[in-house]
Amino acid sequence: MPAVVVIGGQWGDEGKGRVVDYHARSCSVIARYSAGTNAGHTIVNQLGKFGLQLVPAGIFYGDKTCVIGNGVVIHPGTLIDEIAMLEERGVDTSRLVISDRSHVVMPWHPLLDGYEERLRASGAIGTTGTGTGPAFVDKARRSGIRMVDLITPELFRERLSAQLDYYNHIFERLYEAPPLDAGEIFAEYSELGARLRPWVADTADVVQRAHERGDRILLEGAQGALLDLDAGTYPFVTSSVPGSVAGGASIGIGLGPTAIERVVGVYKAYQTRVGNGPMPTELFDEDAERLRNHGAERGAGEYGTTTGRPRRCGWFDGVLGRYTSRLNGVTSVALTRLDTLSGFERVKVCVAYELDDGRVSTLPASLKTTERLKPIYEELPGWKRDVSNVRSLRALPAEARQFVRRIEQILDAPVDMISVGPERDQAIVTRDVFGSAV
Ligand code: GDP
Ligand code: IMO
Ligand code: MG
Repeated sequence: MPAVVVIGGQWGDEGKGRVVDYHARSCSVIARYSAGTNAGHTIVNQLGKFGLQLVPAGIFYGDKTCVIGNGVVIHPGTLIDEIAMLEERGVDTSRLVISDRSHVVMPWHPLLDGYEERLRASGAIGTTGTGTGPAFVDKARRSGIRMVDLITPELFRERLSAQLDYYNHIFERLYEAPPLDAGEIFAEYSELGARLRPWVADTADVVQRAHERGDRILLEGAQGALLDLDAGTYPFVTSSVPGSVAGGASIGIGLGPTAIERVVGVYKAYQTRVGNGPMPTELFDEDAERLRNHGAERGAGEYGTTTGRPRRCGWFDGVLGRYTSRLNGVTSVALTRLDTLSGFERVKVCVAYELDDGRVSTLPASLKTTERLKPIYEELPGWKRDVSNVRSLRALPAEARQFVRRIEQILDAPVDMISVGPERDQAIVTRDVFGSAV
Protein backbone atom coordinates (compact mmCIF):
# COMPACT_ATOMS: atom_id res chain seq x y z
CA MET A 1 0.00 0.00 0.00
CA PRO A 2 1.39 3.41 -0.85
CA ALA A 3 1.56 6.04 1.84
CA VAL A 4 -0.72 9.06 1.52
CA VAL A 5 0.15 12.61 2.53
CA VAL A 6 -2.42 15.12 3.71
CA ILE A 7 -1.22 18.71 3.19
CA GLY A 8 -2.67 22.18 3.67
CA GLY A 9 -3.07 23.98 0.34
CA GLN A 10 -3.28 27.53 1.74
CA TRP A 11 -1.82 29.29 4.82
CA GLY A 12 -2.67 26.61 7.37
CA ASP A 13 -5.85 25.90 9.35
CA GLU A 14 -7.59 24.39 6.34
CA GLY A 15 -8.99 21.58 8.51
CA LYS A 16 -6.18 19.01 8.18
CA GLY A 17 -6.84 17.63 11.69
CA ARG A 18 -10.50 17.19 10.89
CA VAL A 19 -9.74 15.43 7.57
CA VAL A 20 -7.13 13.15 9.15
CA ASP A 21 -9.49 12.29 12.04
CA TYR A 22 -12.06 11.18 9.45
CA HIS A 23 -9.76 9.19 7.16
CA ALA A 24 -7.62 7.61 9.88
CA ARG A 25 -10.40 5.01 10.17
CA SER A 26 -9.03 3.22 7.09
CA CYS A 27 -5.33 3.44 8.06
CA SER A 28 -2.95 1.65 10.44
CA VAL A 29 -0.30 4.33 10.94
CA ILE A 30 -0.85 8.08 11.25
CA ALA A 31 2.28 10.20 11.41
CA ARG A 32 3.17 13.86 11.86
CA TYR A 33 6.31 14.75 9.88
CA SER A 34 6.89 18.49 10.38
CA ALA A 35 6.40 21.62 12.50
CA GLY A 36 5.90 21.75 16.25
CA THR A 37 3.58 23.45 18.70
CA ASN A 38 2.96 26.22 16.16
CA ALA A 39 0.45 23.78 14.66
CA GLY A 40 -3.05 23.55 16.07
CA HIS A 41 -5.34 20.86 14.70
CA THR A 42 -8.96 20.88 15.85
CA ILE A 43 -10.87 17.63 16.01
CA VAL A 44 -14.51 17.23 16.98
CA ASN A 45 -15.63 13.63 17.37
CA GLN A 46 -17.67 11.38 19.65
CA LEU A 47 -15.31 12.18 22.56
CA GLY A 48 -15.68 15.96 22.26
CA LYS A 49 -13.59 18.81 20.90
CA PHE A 50 -9.80 18.61 20.95
CA GLY A 51 -6.99 20.97 19.94
CA LEU A 52 -3.85 18.97 19.15
CA GLN A 53 -0.45 20.55 18.60
CA LEU A 54 1.83 17.51 18.44
CA VAL A 55 -0.06 14.22 18.70
CA PRO A 56 -1.35 12.92 15.32
CA ALA A 57 -5.11 13.17 14.77
CA GLY A 58 -5.37 9.35 14.45
CA ILE A 59 -5.00 8.90 18.22
CA PHE A 60 -8.76 8.73 18.86
CA TYR A 61 -9.24 5.28 17.31
CA GLY A 62 -7.15 3.41 19.88
CA ASP A 63 -5.84 0.79 17.44
CA LYS A 64 -3.64 3.06 15.26
CA THR A 65 0.08 3.54 15.60
CA CYS A 66 0.58 7.31 15.92
CA VAL A 67 4.03 8.61 15.11
CA ILE A 68 5.71 11.93 15.84
CA GLY A 69 8.47 11.82 13.24
CA ASN A 70 12.02 13.11 13.05
CA GLY A 71 10.89 16.27 11.21
CA VAL A 72 8.90 17.55 14.20
CA VAL A 73 10.31 19.82 16.93
CA ILE A 74 8.91 18.93 20.34
CA HIS A 75 8.23 21.14 23.33
CA PRO A 76 8.40 18.40 25.98
CA GLY A 77 6.11 20.10 28.51
CA THR A 78 3.41 20.69 25.89
CA LEU A 79 3.61 17.09 24.69
CA ILE A 80 3.35 15.73 28.24
CA ASP A 81 0.34 17.99 28.89
CA GLU A 82 -1.26 16.90 25.63
CA ILE A 83 -0.80 13.21 26.46
CA ALA A 84 -2.21 13.78 29.98
CA MET A 85 -5.20 15.68 28.60
CA LEU A 86 -5.94 12.85 26.14
CA GLU A 87 -5.63 10.17 28.82
CA GLU A 88 -7.92 12.13 31.17
CA ARG A 89 -10.54 12.30 28.45
CA GLY A 90 -10.43 8.56 27.84
CA VAL A 91 -8.07 8.41 24.85
CA ASP A 92 -5.51 5.57 24.87
CA THR A 93 -2.06 6.97 24.03
CA SER A 94 -0.11 3.73 24.43
CA ARG A 95 0.39 3.42 20.65
CA LEU A 96 2.14 6.75 20.35
CA VAL A 97 5.81 6.73 19.27
CA ILE A 98 8.17 9.69 19.30
CA SER A 99 11.24 9.91 17.11
CA ASP A 100 14.60 9.77 18.87
CA ARG A 101 15.83 12.11 16.10
CA SER A 102 13.16 14.78 16.63
CA HIS A 103 14.48 18.07 17.98
CA VAL A 104 13.57 19.56 21.34
CA VAL A 105 12.26 23.08 21.91
CA MET A 106 14.40 24.41 24.75
CA PRO A 107 13.59 27.36 27.10
CA TRP A 108 15.70 29.78 25.04
CA HIS A 109 13.68 29.17 21.87
CA PRO A 110 10.39 30.91 22.85
CA LEU A 111 12.46 33.75 24.37
CA LEU A 112 14.38 34.19 21.10
CA ASP A 113 11.12 33.99 19.15
CA GLY A 114 9.87 37.02 21.10
CA TYR A 115 13.16 38.99 21.03
CA GLU A 116 13.62 38.46 17.29
CA GLU A 117 10.07 39.53 16.52
CA ARG A 118 10.65 42.73 18.52
CA LEU A 119 13.85 43.43 16.55
CA ARG A 120 11.94 42.96 13.28
CA ALA A 121 9.60 45.77 14.43
CA SER A 122 7.27 46.70 11.57
CA GLY A 123 8.63 43.74 9.58
CA ALA A 124 7.50 41.25 12.26
CA ILE A 125 6.35 37.89 10.87
CA GLY A 126 3.61 37.45 13.45
CA THR A 127 4.97 34.10 14.62
CA THR A 128 3.11 31.93 17.10
CA GLY A 129 5.79 32.76 19.69
CA THR A 130 6.16 29.08 20.51
CA GLY A 131 9.90 28.91 19.79
CA THR A 132 9.30 26.61 16.85
CA GLY A 133 11.18 28.84 14.37
CA PRO A 134 14.31 29.21 16.55
CA ALA A 135 14.31 25.43 17.26
CA PHE A 136 14.43 24.74 13.51
CA VAL A 137 17.20 27.34 13.17
CA ASP A 138 19.22 25.40 15.77
CA LYS A 139 18.55 22.19 13.86
CA ALA A 140 19.90 23.72 10.63
CA ARG A 141 22.84 25.30 12.54
CA ARG A 142 23.68 21.76 13.72
CA SER A 143 23.42 22.83 17.34
CA GLY A 144 19.99 21.46 18.24
CA ILE A 145 19.23 19.12 21.12
CA ARG A 146 17.47 15.98 19.95
CA MET A 147 15.12 13.67 21.81
CA VAL A 148 17.92 11.09 22.06
CA ASP A 149 20.06 13.69 23.87
CA LEU A 150 17.23 14.67 26.20
CA ILE A 151 16.69 11.11 27.39
CA THR A 152 20.42 10.37 27.82
CA PRO A 153 21.67 12.42 30.83
CA GLU A 154 25.38 12.46 29.92
CA LEU A 155 24.65 13.53 26.32
CA PHE A 156 22.13 16.08 27.53
CA ARG A 157 24.47 17.72 30.06
CA GLU A 158 27.14 18.17 27.38
CA ARG A 159 24.83 19.56 24.68
CA LEU A 160 23.02 21.82 27.13
CA SER A 161 26.14 23.43 28.49
CA ALA A 162 27.53 24.19 25.00
CA GLN A 163 24.23 25.68 23.84
CA LEU A 164 23.65 27.73 26.93
CA ASP A 165 27.15 29.29 26.82
CA TYR A 166 26.31 30.48 23.32
CA TYR A 167 22.78 31.72 24.01
CA ASN A 168 23.60 33.40 27.32
CA HIS A 169 26.15 35.53 25.43
CA ILE A 170 23.42 36.53 23.00
CA PHE A 171 20.86 37.22 25.71
CA GLU A 172 23.21 39.37 27.80
CA ARG A 173 25.06 41.23 25.06
CA LEU A 174 22.50 41.59 22.30
CA TYR A 175 19.17 41.61 24.08
CA GLU A 176 20.31 42.85 27.52
CA ALA A 177 18.26 40.06 29.04
CA PRO A 178 19.10 37.87 32.06
CA PRO A 179 21.01 34.63 31.37
CA LEU A 180 19.40 31.22 31.82
CA ASP A 181 20.56 28.80 34.50
CA ALA A 182 22.02 25.52 33.22
CA GLY A 183 21.45 23.64 36.50
CA GLU A 184 17.75 24.51 36.66
CA ILE A 185 17.17 23.61 33.02
CA PHE A 186 19.07 20.33 33.40
CA ALA A 187 16.95 19.31 36.39
CA GLU A 188 13.63 20.25 34.82
CA TYR A 189 14.31 18.87 31.33
CA SER A 190 15.93 15.62 32.51
CA GLU A 191 12.72 14.96 34.37
CA LEU A 192 10.63 15.71 31.26
CA GLY A 193 12.92 13.46 29.21
CA ALA A 194 12.51 10.62 31.71
CA ARG A 195 8.73 10.91 31.44
CA LEU A 196 8.80 10.83 27.62
CA ARG A 197 11.34 8.00 27.38
CA PRO A 198 8.75 5.15 27.19
CA TRP A 199 7.39 6.55 23.93
CA VAL A 200 10.74 7.27 22.24
CA ALA A 201 11.84 5.00 19.38
CA ASP A 202 13.49 4.86 15.97
CA THR A 203 10.29 5.91 14.22
CA ALA A 204 11.68 5.70 10.68
CA ASP A 205 12.18 1.98 11.30
CA VAL A 206 8.62 1.68 12.68
CA VAL A 207 7.15 3.35 9.59
CA GLN A 208 9.40 1.51 7.12
CA ARG A 209 8.39 -1.85 8.62
CA ALA A 210 4.74 -0.88 8.40
CA HIS A 211 5.23 0.05 4.76
CA GLU A 212 6.99 -3.27 4.05
CA ARG A 213 4.06 -5.14 5.66
CA GLY A 214 1.65 -3.31 3.35
CA ASP A 215 0.02 -1.28 6.14
CA ARG A 216 -1.85 1.87 5.23
CA ILE A 217 0.10 4.95 6.27
CA LEU A 218 -1.32 8.45 6.52
CA LEU A 219 1.13 11.32 6.82
CA GLU A 220 -0.44 14.34 8.51
CA GLY A 221 0.95 17.65 7.31
CA ALA A 222 1.03 20.82 9.36
CA GLN A 223 0.76 24.44 8.23
CA GLY A 224 0.08 25.06 4.56
CA ALA A 225 2.09 25.17 1.35
CA LEU A 226 1.99 28.99 1.30
CA LEU A 227 3.83 28.97 4.67
CA ASP A 228 6.52 26.63 3.34
CA LEU A 229 10.10 27.86 3.66
CA ASP A 230 10.81 27.33 -0.06
CA ALA A 231 7.44 27.63 -1.75
CA GLY A 232 5.65 30.12 0.49
CA THR A 233 5.43 33.89 0.78
CA TYR A 234 8.99 34.21 2.12
CA PRO A 235 9.98 35.64 4.60
CA PHE A 236 6.41 35.48 5.98
CA VAL A 237 6.62 31.71 6.32
CA THR A 238 7.31 29.14 8.98
CA SER A 239 10.76 27.61 9.53
CA SER A 240 9.95 23.92 9.34
CA VAL A 241 12.80 21.90 7.91
CA PRO A 242 11.56 19.58 6.08
CA GLY A 243 8.91 22.14 5.10
CA SER A 244 5.17 21.97 4.82
CA VAL A 245 4.80 20.72 1.26
CA ALA A 246 4.17 17.06 0.41
CA GLY A 247 7.81 16.55 -0.61
CA GLY A 248 8.81 17.20 3.01
CA ALA A 249 6.86 14.20 4.26
CA SER A 250 9.41 11.77 2.91
CA ILE A 251 12.25 13.49 4.77
CA GLY A 252 10.33 14.21 7.96
CA ILE A 253 9.22 10.62 8.48
CA GLY A 254 12.01 8.61 6.87
CA LEU A 255 10.22 6.96 3.95
CA GLY A 256 11.57 7.11 0.39
CA PRO A 257 9.57 9.31 -1.99
CA THR A 258 8.49 6.27 -4.02
CA ALA A 259 6.39 5.13 -1.05
CA ILE A 260 4.14 8.16 -1.40
CA GLU A 261 1.77 7.91 -4.32
CA ARG A 262 -1.19 9.98 -3.28
CA VAL A 263 -1.43 13.54 -1.97
CA VAL A 264 -4.62 14.87 -0.44
CA GLY A 265 -4.76 18.67 -0.58
CA VAL A 266 -6.96 20.22 2.09
CA TYR A 267 -8.42 23.54 0.92
CA LYS A 268 -10.88 25.78 2.69
CA ALA A 269 -13.72 27.08 0.50
CA TYR A 270 -12.27 30.57 1.06
CA GLN A 271 -8.91 31.94 2.20
CA THR A 272 -7.60 32.61 5.72
CA ARG A 273 -4.24 33.60 7.16
CA VAL A 274 -2.92 34.28 10.68
CA GLY A 275 0.15 36.41 11.13
CA ASN A 276 1.58 38.91 8.66
CA GLY A 277 2.51 38.77 4.98
CA PRO A 278 0.82 39.07 1.62
CA MET A 279 -2.74 37.88 1.09
CA PRO A 280 -4.05 39.16 -2.24
CA THR A 281 -7.73 38.29 -1.68
CA GLU A 282 -7.94 39.61 1.89
CA LEU A 283 -11.22 41.39 2.64
CA PHE A 284 -11.81 44.17 5.16
CA ASP A 285 -15.57 44.54 4.77
CA GLU A 286 -18.62 42.84 6.22
CA ASP A 287 -17.99 39.75 4.06
CA ALA A 288 -14.73 39.22 6.02
CA GLU A 289 -16.60 39.56 9.31
CA ARG A 290 -19.18 37.10 8.11
CA LEU A 291 -16.57 34.52 7.11
CA ARG A 292 -14.70 35.01 10.38
CA ASN A 293 -17.70 34.80 12.66
CA HIS A 294 -19.61 31.92 11.09
CA GLY A 295 -20.10 29.51 13.98
CA ALA A 296 -18.28 31.86 16.40
CA GLU A 297 -21.09 31.51 18.96
CA ARG A 298 -20.14 27.81 19.21
CA GLY A 299 -16.44 28.68 19.42
CA ALA A 300 -15.98 27.65 15.78
CA GLY A 301 -15.20 31.01 14.14
CA GLU A 302 -11.95 31.86 12.38
CA TYR A 303 -9.75 32.38 15.43
CA GLY A 304 -6.38 30.63 15.85
CA THR A 305 -6.41 27.24 17.61
CA THR A 306 -2.96 27.88 19.10
CA THR A 307 -2.94 31.64 19.71
CA GLY A 308 -6.61 32.71 19.59
CA ARG A 309 -5.73 35.46 17.08
CA PRO A 310 -8.48 36.45 14.61
CA ARG A 311 -7.69 34.98 11.20
CA ARG A 312 -7.56 37.28 8.18
CA CYS A 313 -10.29 36.21 5.74
CA GLY A 314 -10.91 36.55 2.00
CA TRP A 315 -12.31 34.83 -1.07
CA PHE A 316 -10.82 31.60 -2.44
CA ASP A 317 -7.60 32.38 -4.26
CA GLY A 318 -7.58 30.11 -7.31
CA VAL A 319 -4.18 31.35 -8.48
CA LEU A 320 -2.55 30.28 -5.23
CA GLY A 321 -4.69 27.13 -5.13
CA ARG A 322 -3.44 26.07 -8.53
CA TYR A 323 0.11 27.01 -7.53
CA THR A 324 0.04 24.78 -4.42
CA SER A 325 -1.83 21.95 -6.13
CA ARG A 326 0.96 21.69 -8.70
CA LEU A 327 3.75 22.10 -6.13
CA ASN A 328 2.40 19.28 -4.02
CA GLY A 329 1.26 17.01 -6.82
CA VAL A 330 -2.25 16.98 -5.33
CA THR A 331 -4.20 13.93 -6.51
CA SER A 332 -7.33 14.45 -4.40
CA VAL A 333 -8.93 17.45 -2.73
CA ALA A 334 -10.72 17.73 0.61
CA LEU A 335 -12.74 20.95 0.47
CA THR A 336 -13.63 22.20 3.94
CA ARG A 337 -16.03 24.71 5.49
CA LEU A 338 -18.41 24.74 2.53
CA ASP A 339 -21.15 25.44 5.10
CA THR A 340 -19.54 28.81 5.88
CA LEU A 341 -20.37 30.06 2.37
CA SER A 342 -24.12 29.39 2.73
CA GLY A 343 -26.20 32.56 2.60
CA PHE A 344 -23.93 34.69 0.41
CA GLU A 345 -25.77 36.22 -2.57
CA ARG A 346 -22.68 35.65 -4.78
CA VAL A 347 -19.50 33.74 -4.10
CA LYS A 348 -16.22 34.94 -5.57
CA VAL A 349 -13.14 33.04 -6.73
CA CYS A 350 -9.92 34.77 -7.75
CA VAL A 351 -8.82 33.41 -11.16
CA ALA A 352 -5.89 35.72 -12.00
CA TYR A 353 -4.20 38.89 -10.81
CA GLU A 354 -3.84 42.26 -12.43
CA LEU A 355 -0.26 43.48 -12.12
CA ASP A 356 0.49 46.99 -13.34
CA ASP A 357 -0.78 46.80 -16.94
CA GLY A 358 -0.67 43.04 -17.31
CA ARG A 359 -2.22 39.87 -15.97
CA VAL A 360 -0.45 37.11 -14.00
CA SER A 361 -1.62 33.69 -12.97
CA THR A 362 1.10 32.46 -10.60
CA LEU A 363 2.76 33.69 -7.40
CA PRO A 364 5.65 36.11 -8.00
CA ALA A 365 8.71 35.56 -5.80
CA SER A 366 9.19 39.22 -4.91
CA LEU A 367 7.21 40.65 -2.01
CA LYS A 368 7.33 44.06 -3.66
CA THR A 369 5.51 42.58 -6.66
CA THR A 370 3.09 40.56 -4.53
CA GLU A 371 1.96 43.76 -2.78
CA ARG A 372 0.78 45.19 -6.13
CA LEU A 373 -1.33 42.19 -7.17
CA LYS A 374 -5.03 42.96 -7.62
CA PRO A 375 -7.30 39.92 -7.70
CA ILE A 376 -9.50 39.37 -10.74
CA TYR A 377 -12.65 37.63 -9.53
CA GLU A 378 -15.09 35.30 -11.16
CA GLU A 379 -18.51 35.50 -9.50
CA LEU A 380 -20.62 32.43 -8.98
CA PRO A 381 -24.21 32.29 -7.76
CA GLY A 382 -24.49 31.72 -4.00
CA TRP A 383 -26.87 29.40 -2.19
CA LYS A 384 -29.17 30.23 0.70
CA ARG A 385 -29.72 26.86 2.30
CA ASP A 386 -27.65 25.62 5.27
CA VAL A 387 -25.69 22.59 4.02
CA SER A 388 -24.31 21.31 7.33
CA ASN A 389 -26.72 18.34 7.36
CA VAL A 390 -26.13 17.34 3.74
CA ARG A 391 -24.38 13.98 3.29
CA SER A 392 -24.54 13.44 -0.48
CA LEU A 393 -23.56 15.44 -3.55
CA ARG A 394 -27.07 15.11 -4.93
CA ALA A 395 -28.57 16.79 -1.89
CA LEU A 396 -26.35 19.88 -2.19
CA PRO A 397 -27.91 22.99 -3.74
CA ALA A 398 -27.05 23.15 -7.47
CA GLU A 399 -25.09 26.39 -6.91
CA ALA A 400 -22.91 24.72 -4.27
CA ARG A 401 -22.23 21.84 -6.68
CA GLN A 402 -21.29 24.38 -9.34
CA PHE A 403 -18.83 25.99 -6.89
CA VAL A 404 -17.27 22.60 -6.09
CA ARG A 405 -16.90 21.78 -9.82
CA ARG A 406 -15.17 25.11 -10.41
CA ILE A 407 -12.72 24.42 -7.57
CA GLU A 408 -11.96 21.01 -9.15
CA GLN A 409 -11.21 22.66 -12.49
CA ILE A 410 -8.95 25.26 -10.90
CA LEU A 411 -7.04 22.77 -8.75
CA ASP A 412 -7.05 20.18 -11.55
CA ALA A 413 -7.86 17.39 -9.09
CA PRO A 414 -11.11 15.74 -7.97
CA VAL A 415 -12.83 16.87 -4.79
CA ASP A 416 -13.29 13.53 -2.99
CA MET A 417 -14.38 14.98 0.36
CA ILE A 418 -16.53 18.01 1.10
CA SER A 419 -16.62 19.00 4.74
CA VAL A 420 -19.80 20.79 5.82
CA GLY A 421 -19.16 21.08 9.56
CA PRO A 422 -16.47 20.51 12.19
CA GLU A 423 -17.83 17.18 13.45
CA ARG A 424 -16.41 13.89 12.27
CA ASP A 425 -19.33 12.80 10.12
CA GLN A 426 -20.34 16.21 8.78
CA ALA A 427 -18.91 15.36 5.38
CA ILE A 428 -19.73 14.21 1.88
CA VAL A 429 -17.11 11.61 1.01
CA THR A 430 -16.96 9.97 -2.41
CA ARG A 431 -13.52 8.34 -2.18
CA ASP A 432 -11.26 7.36 0.70
CA VAL A 433 -7.70 8.69 0.77
CA PHE A 434 -6.43 5.65 -1.13
CA GLY A 435 -8.76 6.48 -4.03
CA SER A 436 -11.36 3.75 -3.47
CA ALA A 437 -14.98 4.72 -3.97
CA VAL A 438 -16.97 4.71 -0.70
P1 GDP B 1 -5.86 22.55 10.78
O1 GDP B 1 -4.77 23.29 11.46
O2 GDP B 1 -5.68 22.49 9.30
O3 GDP B 1 -6.10 21.20 11.37
O4 GDP B 1 -7.19 23.43 11.01
P2 GDP B 1 -7.67 24.12 12.39
O5 GDP B 1 -8.20 23.07 13.27
O6 GDP B 1 -6.62 25.01 12.93
O7 GDP B 1 -8.81 25.06 11.85
C1 GDP B 1 -9.92 24.56 11.18
C2 GDP B 1 -11.18 25.02 11.94
O8 GDP B 1 -12.32 24.77 11.14
C3 GDP B 1 -11.42 24.25 13.22
O9 GDP B 1 -12.09 25.09 14.13
C4 GDP B 1 -12.33 23.11 12.77
O10 GDP B 1 -13.14 22.58 13.81
C5 GDP B 1 -13.18 23.83 11.78
N1 GDP B 1 -13.71 23.02 10.68
C6 GDP B 1 -13.10 22.04 9.95
N2 GDP B 1 -13.89 21.66 8.93
C7 GDP B 1 -15.02 22.41 9.02
C8 GDP B 1 -16.20 22.52 8.24
O11 GDP B 1 -16.38 21.85 7.23
N3 GDP B 1 -17.13 23.44 8.63
C9 GDP B 1 -16.96 24.23 9.73
N4 GDP B 1 -17.92 25.10 10.03
N5 GDP B 1 -15.86 24.15 10.48
C10 GDP B 1 -14.90 23.27 10.13
P1 IMO C 1 -1.61 24.45 11.34
O1 IMO C 1 -0.86 23.15 11.31
C1 IMO C 1 -1.73 28.75 10.61
C2 IMO C 1 2.05 30.94 10.84
C3 IMO C 1 2.11 31.93 11.98
C4 IMO C 1 3.02 32.98 11.35
C5 IMO C 1 4.00 32.13 10.56
C6 IMO C 1 5.32 31.85 11.28
O2 IMO C 1 -2.53 24.62 12.48
O3 IMO C 1 -2.24 24.72 10.01
P2 IMO C 1 5.93 30.32 13.37
O4 IMO C 1 5.44 30.33 14.78
O5 IMO C 1 5.70 29.03 12.67
O6 IMO C 1 7.36 30.78 13.25
O7 IMO C 1 5.05 31.44 12.63
O8 IMO C 1 3.35 30.90 10.30
N1 IMO C 1 1.69 29.55 11.23
C7 IMO C 1 0.48 29.01 11.08
N2 IMO C 1 -0.67 29.56 10.65
N3 IMO C 1 -1.70 27.43 10.95
C8 IMO C 1 -0.54 26.87 11.34
O9 IMO C 1 -0.43 25.54 11.57
C9 IMO C 1 0.60 27.66 11.47
N4 IMO C 1 1.87 27.44 11.86
C10 IMO C 1 2.53 28.59 11.70
O10 IMO C 1 0.85 32.44 12.29
O11 IMO C 1 2.30 33.76 10.43
MG1 MG D 1 -4.52 24.96 12.74
